[in-house]
Amino acid sequence: MTEAWRPDDDDERARRGASGPVKVRVPAKINLHLGVGPLRPDGYHELNTIYHAIALHDELTARRGDTLTLTMEGEGTGELALDEENLVIRAARALAEHVGVPAHARLHLRKQIPLAAGLAGGSADAAAALVACDTLWGTNLSRDQLALIAADLGSDVPFLLYGGTALGTGRGEAVSPVLARPTTWHWVVAVADGGISTPVAFRELDRLRADGAAPPPLTAAEGLLAALRQRDPAVLAENLGNDLQVAALSLRPALAATLKAGEAAGALAGMVSGSGPTCVFLAADGPSANRIAAELEAAGVCRAARTATGAVPGARVI
Ligand code: C5P
Repeated sequence: MTEAWRPDDDDERARRGASGPVKVRVPAKINLHLGVGPLRPDGYHELNTIYHAIALHDELTARRGDTLTLTMEGEGTGELALDEENLVIRAARALAEHVGVPAHARLHLRKQIPLAAGLAGGSADAAAALVACDTLWGTNLSRDQLALIAADLGSDVPFLLYGGTALGTGRGEAVSPVLARPTTWHWVVAVADGGISTPVAFRELDRLRADGAAPPPLTAAEGLLAALRQRDPAVLAENLGNDLQVAALSLRPALAATLKAGEAAGALAGMVSGSGPTCVFLAADGPSANRIAAELEAAGVCRAARTATGAVPGARVI
C-alpha cells in the first residue's frame, strides 16, 4: 500500500482527482514472435515474446460514482460478465486496494477488440481500467507501479499499459521496450467466428509436443529484433513466428484456409495472433493492406477483416 486513505481525505482527493469523465483508449496486441517454453510448476509457460500494439482500440470511460459499476457496448459484450469476475472490475478493485481508496466509479466500456481472439482484448480493458481509475481517483501512480498491479491481473496486462513494441519474458508479464526507431507497419486483422480459450490453446500445444506433433520451439527473438531495426517489411515477414499457431490450427483447422487466402491476396506473411483464432497479415504498405482485407472478406474465410497500423501507444487518457 503506497498511502492510506482517511475519510477526511475525500475533499482533497476530489480536488486532486478528475471531476469530469476520464476517457481512456487502449489498443489490441499481437505477438510478432511468440516462443513458448516448458510448463512451469505454477501452471504458466515460460514465454519469450515480442509484443506489438496495433490501432484497434477499446475505450473505457470512468465517472465518479457511489459504488463500482460497469456497463458495456460493442463487439460481443452481451457474452461478458459484468460482475466481480470481469477483469475491468477486478482491475479497479486491485488499484483501490493497493492505494487504499474506496473503489467507487461508474465505468463504461466501448469494445471493438473481439473477445477470446488472441488480441488480448480483456487484458487491454483491465489496463484501461487501471489508467482511468488512477486518473479519476487522483492516485497518480507511475506506469511501472501500475504494471506491478497489472501483472497479478493477467500476463498480458502490463504490456497494454506501455504499448509500442516490447519484449515480454517470464509468463509474459516482465516487459521491456524494444528500441526500434519509430516505424509504421501495416497489418490486416482477420477476425474469426467464436473464440479460443487461452488455457485450452496452451494445453493443446503441450499435447502436440508430447505427441511429437509440434515443430521445434522458437529460439530467442534475435532475428526478429534485427528485422525490426532494418525497417523492411519483407525482412520482418521472414522473421515472424508463433509457437501457439500449431495449437490454434489443430483446434480450428479452417484457419489454414484463412492463412492461405491472405498470402494469396498479397500479404508478405500471415500468422495466427497469440492463441488465436484471429489471423494477422503483414502488408507491404497501406494500399496493399486495404486490398488484402477486401479480398479476405470477399473470399469468406473470416468474419471480418480490418486494417490496423502498429506500433501504437498503450492505455492513454484522451
Ligand atoms: O495470465 P492469464 O490469466 O492471461 O493466463 C490465462 C491462462 O493462459 C493461464 O491460466 C494459463 O493456463 C495460460 N498461460 C500459460 N502461460 C502463460 C500465459 C498464460 O500457460 N505464459
